[in-house]
Amino acid sequence: MSNKIKVDLGDNSYNISFVEDFKDSIVKFALSTKSQCLLITQEKIFNLHKQKFDKISKTPNINILMISDGEQAKSFESINSIVSEMAKNNFDRSSLVFAVGGGVVGDVAGFAASIFMRGIKYVQYPTTLLSMVDSSIGGKTGINLKDGKNLVGRIYQPIAVEVDTNFLSTLPKRDFNAAFAEVIKYGFIYDKDLFDYLSENLSNIKNNDLNVIKKIITQCCEIKSDIVSEDENENELRMILNFGHTVGHAIESYTKYEELLHGEAIFYGMKCALFISNKFGNLNKDEYKKSLQLLSKFDLPNLSIDNKDIFINFVKNDKKFRGKNIRFILLDEIGKSRISKDITFEQIKKSLSVL
Ligand SMILES: NC(=O)c1ccc[n+]([C@@H]2O[C@H](COP(=O)([O-])OP(=O)(O)OC[C@H]3O[C@@H](n4cnc5c(N)ncnc54)[C@H](O)[C@@H]3O)[C@@H](O)[C@H]2O)c1
Repeated sequence: MSNKIKVDLGDNSYNISFVEDFKDSIVKFALSTKSQCLLITQEKIFNLHKQKFDKISKTPNINILMISDGEQAKSFESINSIVSEMAKNNFDRSSLVFAVGGGVVGDVAGFAASIFMRGIKYVQYPTTLLSMVDSSIGGKTGINLKDGKNLVGRIYQPIAVEVDTNFLSTLPKRDFNAAFAEVIKYGFIYDKDLFDYLSENLSNIKNNDLNVIKKIITQCCEIKSDIVSEDENENELRMILNFGHTVGHAIESYTKYEELLHGEAIFYGMKCALFISNKFGNLNKDEYKKSLQLLSKFDLPNLSIDNKDIFINFVKNDKKFRGKNIRFILLDEIGKSRISKDITFEQIKKSLSVL
């Protein structure tokens, strides 16, 4: 198993590396510059790994800043507090930002780094499974507006992604479980071998076998890295990463972001996308059944969509589709996906029967 995966983006290329201890990695980066550095994290993560953060804080040029928890942290207020802190402490163009957290910290810290002095370098230290396999890679950064998620942001690549899997030991089981939506998604859209590996290793996954988990993270990082390297700006190929997300996002909106974690909504969204791929596309019955079977092995909270018309309005209101045909990701077979412009809202409504 390789310890380094290259995200190949010309001058903006970087490595995803597995590290023994995030503390040593951060201190090393900080010592490589004479400028001030900012470590951005959240209180929960700080407290769970306090000893290490305390050691890091002894490095003279490292400042630590906490942002709040949850989606509300992806706000202009957080960005304001970060850039103000940097300005107050005389940060300059050689300063570094360390994002130590899940997708929320990564998105906010990356966006702040991208705009301070028109862009300073940042390093991603993902602490959730979702951020290890997905959000820390590819440079999508940003914050939310009242009108929708991730409406303000930039594609701005980190200089490195440093993965310390020890963080997973403190991650709540529910977050760990939900992240498997994105993991299985990679198998569906790109890699049948990964799908088979997941199906064959379910008990090892449930028992937190770190070797198996590391292998899965590596495979996911390689896939995301391949896709981003090919299509950094999401012109075409990168869109397949949205498999299950059209319905998944509508489920998040319908349930007001209160009942389900993102990954859990994507589990449901993928069920619908599989239904559509089978009933209105090329996915054969056998693979459809096998796919639903794998999804069913992961616990999900109950979901009931009582008003299908209201639900479909959430699909229609997806910012990505305003004034455009819906672009729906279909599976032709496990490991092979495509973008279709032919799927109708009526077909999506029918797919809710699989939930
Ligand atoms: N940039 C991208 O490409 C991309 C891709 C997918 C998702 N996202 C974004 O990622 C966000 C979701 O990320 P997430 O699922 O990582 O959630 P998150 O960042 O909100 O983290 C979930 C919770 O777990 C806590 N936590 C983090 N690491 C922990 C650890 N090791 N031990 C214990 N608790 C820990 C956090 O403090 C938080 O309370 C969303 O905002 C989504 O929009 C971005």
